[in-house]
Amino acid sequence: MALAQYLAELETLVADAARAFSAADGALTLEAARIEFLGAKSGRIKDAQKGLGAVDKADKPAAGKHFNDAKQAIEAAFTSAQERIAAQGITEPGLAPIDLTLPGRPLRLGRLHPLTQTIEELKEILGRLGFTVADGPEIEDEWHNFEALNIPASHPARDPLENFYLATAERGAGGPLLLRSQTSTVQIRVMEAAKPPVRIISLGRVYRPDTADDTHYPMFHQIEGLLVDRHVTMADLKSTLRLFAAAYFGGDVHIRFRPSFFPFTEPSVEVDMSWHDRWIEMGGAGMVDPHVLQAVGYDPEEYTGFAFGLGVERVCARRHQVTDIREFYKNDVRFLRQF
Ligand code: PHE
Repeated sequence: MALAQYLAELETLVADAARAFSAADGALTLEAARIEFLGAKSGRIKDAQKGLGAVDKADKPAAGKHFNDAKQAIEAAFTSAQERIAAQGITEPGLAPIDLTLPGRPLRLGRLHPLTQTIEELKEILGRLGFTVADGPEIEDEWHNFEALNIPASHPARDPLENFYLATAERGAGGPLLLRSQTSTVQIRVMEAAKPPVRIISLGRVYRPDTADDTHYPMFHQIEGLLVDRHVTMADLKSTLRLFAAAYFGGDVHIRFRPSFFPFTEPSVEVDMSWHDRWIEMGGAGMVDPHVLQAVGYDPEEYTGFAFGLGVERVCARRHQVTDIREFYKNDVRFLRQF
């Protein structure tokens, strides 16, 4: 190849590279140009270097010098494009430059759900009164959900339409299975497993086919308390609930019992609490019915006990002025972030 032709090719190469590098507008286009011209395997500089072999022997030293100049020019064009792009703060074509002086974006920390916070707090308060936490399954059999609690088959609470029975032929040791409708089931499980004295609370989900509205939801949480010992009276029940309410709501709280009926307590009461001059119903309570003590093998002549079951959503909603319990289940972070 004649020297003149080789030099003309180098000239074209340098001009092409200069154009490509100055057209690069971000890291990606710059890299593409770098590979095209400076690529170690098949870049165009590499080709030009190979082309040296075809130049007439006498012209080789001159051609080699021009090749080195061309290579340096192309490398310089690359370096200046690289500096230009770095100075603009452009990392990708189409992305806005990064402003390193901007303050950082705050990280949003997750937090416990208000009901979980309430449950933890209730455990803590009743723990101070000597109650330990007991647990029971959410899928229960009829014995624990009804029978042992003195709720006979004819009782309206056992209507299949009032409960979530499982659509399965599988049965528990104590009969057909359903989602528990109350945490009172745990009373039975604890007493079946231990001798008195018993002093437990149990917190968890219960299920009833209620239509959701501002005070109902087909799943909600209860806190169950059970104390069985010698000489336990209704006065113990009331003072326990008063201490509990005073600790959760703060000093200005009152407790009121209204006569009621539950098959598993006798006498039975509804528990109302007043805080900032408004009464609201918190749940049910009473003295454990002798039939229940008998069902778990306790001697009702020797032992008496009290039990209570309160709605966790209710106490939480009252304290935080939540007027619609459906808010607890919407997972709207604007609501949840307030707690
Ligand atoms: N289990 C009852 C309910 O769900 C509440 C209750 C618990 C009443 C313990 C008395 C004793 O309504």
